[in-house]
Amino acid sequence: MTIAPVQRTASLGSSAWTDARLIMALEEVVEKELNRHLKVAKDWMPHEFIPWSQGRDFDGVLGGEAWSVEQSKVTPLGRVSLVVNLLTEDNLPSYHHEIATMFGREGAWGTWVHRWTAEEGRHGIAIRDYLLATRAVDPNELERARMSHMSEGFESDNSHSMLHSVAYVAFQELATRISHRNTGHHAGDPLCDQLLAKIANDENLHMVFYRNLLKAALEIAPDQAMRAIADVVTDFRMPGHGIPGFERAAAQIAIGGVYNLRIHHDDVLQPVLRHLKVMEVADLGPTGQQAQDELGAFLGGLDAQARKFEERQAALLARRAARAGTK
Ligand SMILES: [Fe+2]
Ligand SMILES: [Fe+2]
Repeated sequence: MTIAPVQRTASLGSSAWTDARLIMALEEVVEKELNRHLKVAKDWMPHEFIPWSQGRDFDGVLGGEAWSVEQSKVTPLGRVSLVVNLLTEDNLPSYHHEIATMFGREGAWGTWVHRWTAEEGRHGIAIRDYLLATRAVDPNELERARMSHMSEGFESDNSHSMLHSVAYVAFQELATRISHRNTGHHAGDPLCDQLLAKIANDENLHMVFYRNLLKAALEIAPDQAMRAIADVVTDFRMPGHGIPGFERAAAQIAIGGVYNLRIHHDDVLQPVLRHLKVMEVADLGPTGQQAQDELGAFLGGLDAQARKFEERQAALLARRAARAGTK
């Protein structure tokens, strides 16, 4: 999945924008978007969303009650999905490192990097507080998974290119929003849904910031931006892919309707692409034109794959319902 940066830059010819020039050219847009973000983002208090009265001591040091699954009010799908979402949020130090290295810590870019990190920080805090106070998941397993996942670190597939990074986060923030929102809907606890809706709202504002930045990049460097969008969309994978047992969890999350190909196509890729009018950008050079064509072909294929997935999903759910009916 790692992309060869040298070839891509070479194929764009000597007029290609370097990352340093793009970062400078976009500084004004970053400042404008940062100010807009600060105006619309309302501060909120994670602790207000946690039902602390449900909490009690665990076994071990304090000699409280050990966790067992019947204490959890959350659905099995909700448990799997909440853990994946939390572990993804937990890797924030690695994400901060990635974007601070790519965008820098100076000026408007730096202010955004730090503000974004502060906002993201409360997501992991709030979800963990909720899970522990309500005994929704096994705290020992959760901690072991966190240690293992964070010890691996996270390295972006896109760290070779500033435009690829911006394109990736525009889609990824929306993917995270949808994933939190749908997890809340399937969790079976209105308090969990309420918390995840609040977090999803933060993710949406992050998406808007990066999407608007990507729009400006498409105007400044249309061929390179189109190439970056096509690469990111065709190679997309969630930042949590390194989580222990991710594939099994992802399959459950897909079948359960929290996040799957249909959702990825309809609720993540298409809204961003449509907003940016990516398929309507004209005046592209040969490189941009080729990227746009590749993107169009890929989206058609993905839609067909999503349809096949839905058929398999419906058949599986029907078999499960029939089995449940005969018991
Ligand atoms: Fe987050
Ligand atoms: Fe976010």
